[in-house]
Amino acid sequence: MNSSVMRSAIIGVGDYLPETIVTNEELAKTVDTSDAWIRERTGIHERRKLEAGLATSDMAVGAAKKALLAAGRTPADVDLIVVATTTPDLTFPSTAAIVQRKLGVPVCIAFDIQAVCSGFVYALSVADGFTARGLSKCALVIGADAMSRLMDWTDRGTCVLFSDGAGAVVLEPREGRGDTSDQGLLGFALRCDGTKQDLLYVDGGPSTTGTVGHLRMVGQQVFRHAVVNISEAVEAAAAVAGVKVADVDWFVPHQANQRILQGVANRLGIDEAKVISTVATHANTSAASIPLAMAQGIADGRIKPGQLLLMEAMGGGLTWGACVLRL
Ligand code: UT7
Repeated sequence: MNSSVMRSAIIGVGDYLPETIVTNEELAKTVDTSDAWIRERTGIHERRKLEAGLATSDMAVGAAKKALLAAGRTPADVDLIVVATTTPDLTFPSTAAIVQRKLGVPVCIAFDIQAVCSGFVYALSVADGFTARGLSKCALVIGADAMSRLMDWTDRGTCVLFSDGAGAVVLEPREGRGDTSDQGLLGFALRCDGTKQDLLYVDGGPSTTGTVGHLRMVGQQVFRHAVVNISEAVEAAAAVAGVKVADVDWFVPHQANQRILQGVANRLGIDEAKVISTVATHANTSAASIPLAMAQGIADGRIKPGQLLLMEAMGGGLTWGACVLRL
């Protein structure tokens, strides 16, 4: 028998992309690569680069303002801010605290989540816990990363892949019936395997080198791990939600590589026409890529209220995970 449950519903989505575009041709002038190689192996045509003088919080605020506008809410309504980021403005305070100040949100709960490219899915699940327990009536969940700040610009294996941006959603509680017709977050699967740290990490930090460091990746192994393990997490999240992967209207994956998107979709039997792909123009914006893709799908009219969405991501940790939701 179904019983009433509190769900976290996404009532607004917003995005921010830096104005500066870096094309494959431009990168080919500084590292040994080519537009043809990058397009063929990754699907990326161009990426964004946050301008000097701006920080991750500025992108987060830009996305949050649009999400609040779309939701018909104001900063005064917000009682929880969770920012998923690997590129905070400062070691502390959290980027969420800086966002609170810049947005003019009154005293509230605010903190960061660090799960790299999986950060947005992790952050949604944490915010869902606050909403379900009545601790938040209006939450901002933001994925924001300035990955360009972590690049070794002489490493062609990584510097062509990553990008900068932010995406935000507004979450509010909605009473549901406890079945798959409910609006809101319906099921999660979150994973971390710290033994695979060396496949994707940053070689610096406050308590080790005292530096910010650069991103290091064993690309091929991360690729293989992604295609195999994301599928398991997706099936697990769908099982928790009580839906079949085939019932999903839109697959909104983390945008690391077009070949990973296709590989995961094929493994799961998802029609490629249902995959929201922004990798060509956004590249890999880490925690921002899922809400950025969602914002694009909504803006171009593909994603509509009431539809069933499936998100998934994989990143440093290694972390990975999936979320099923009804918009
Ligand atoms: O957000 C989650 C984290 N990231 C990912 O999910 C990324 C996962 N990995 C990938 O997307 C892919 O593995 C890459 C795009 C990084 C690499 O593609 P690949 O098809 O796995 O290439 P590879 O690493 O096997 O390298 C093939 C060749 C190598 O040359 P040799 O040894 O065959 O002579 C590389 O040195 O391609 C070379 N290569 C490049 N060539 C031109 C690597 N990067 C480049 C480049 N331009 N940018």
